[in-house]
Amino acid sequence: MTVLVTGGAGYIGSHTVAELLARGDDTVVIVDSLQTGHKKAVLGGKLYECDLRDTEAMRRVFRENDIDAVVHFAANSLVGESMTDPAKYYDNNVYGTLCLLERMNEAGVKRIVFSSTAATYGDPERVPITEGDRTDPLNTYGETKLAMERMMRWFDVAHGIKYVSLRYFNAAGAHEKGLIGEDHRPETHLVPLVLQVALGQREFIGIYGDDYPTHDGTCIRDYIHVMDLADAHVLAVEKLRSGGESGVFNLGNGRGFTVREVVETARKVTGHDIPARVVPRRAGDPAALVASSERAKAELGWQPKRASLEAIIESAWKWHQANPRGYGDE
Ligand code: UFG
Repeated sequence: MTVLVTGGAGYIGSHTVAELLARGDDTVVIVDSLQTGHKKAVLGGKLYECDLRDTEAMRRVFRENDIDAVVHFAANSLVGESMTDPAKYYDNNVYGTLCLLERMNEAGVKRIVFSSTAATYGDPERVPITEGDRTDPLNTYGETKLAMERMMRWFDVAHGIKYVSLRYFNAAGAHEKGLIGEDHRPETHLVPLVLQVALGQREFIGIYGDDYPTHDGTCIRDYIHVMDLADAHVLAVEKLRSGGESGVFNLGNGRGFTVREVVETARKVTGHDIPARVVPRRAGDPAALVASSERAKAELGWQPKRASLEAIIESAWKWHQANPRGYGDE
């Protein structure tokens, strides 16, 4: 059988492609515009360099391959940028997804696994967050992901396209073999930034505020290994193939760590000082985001295997040490 992975050259997409290839059960086809993805991150499969909004190019992808399931990552995902350029997010994320669903419908493809986010919840009413909790995004990025989820719901009602939407918390870490890792440009995520300080590429890590209502005043997040996320996508494809119903699932470890705790763990793992300074809060950061992933465990049979923060940071460190310039100049 053939899986199409959109955004398969991106961070989580490339790790999912690696997992699909390692399992060897599927032919893997990748569509990526390479706007933010990296060709070198694609370890195998058949790569089409094209945009989801390019109708003819996407028709060709579905015509040339016997695709029975889609795993959809292709999107812009910078929270800050989404606040200054909302049109880009509605166009690429929402309209891009509409185009994809239309092509799937034309081709008779009835299964999609979707890369969603904890940003759909906004500032949660309580933690751990369950899937039935209020969704009230604080930024355009989260708003577009929620719109994409809801669009899938109506395509299911109208056309029977079944979807699994996976709302991840904070993805981090890298492939165990050190072949691929996290390289966003610009980098805005805590773990890679902290490791850049350890590598001497940055002077210090700025901690965005220490006056939040948490035990050390810094924000709490639930860090989840990127390969555990990759596992969940494969399980979700299996669920849909075996006739499973559509659904939304949180993916996290269910344990929160403060920014200070992440920096401290990175100091232990790397053996470097990693100077840190408190800087002003970043707009739109909720104080605490922690997942309840009980539904994913019960219904997908998912179990995170690299749950410790040390293991997550160790795998990221291994990749950053071997690839201090990420994927380099492509
Ligand atoms: N942080 C710092 N300093 C930095 C970078 C981050 O203190 O230089 C803090 C942030 O304030 C936050 C935590 O570290 O408390 C994690 O920040 P990231 O930017 O790594 O991740 P976010 O929690 O902001 O974002 C993640 C996903 C987004 C998603 C969001 C949902 O990466 O895709 O969760 O809130 F939208």
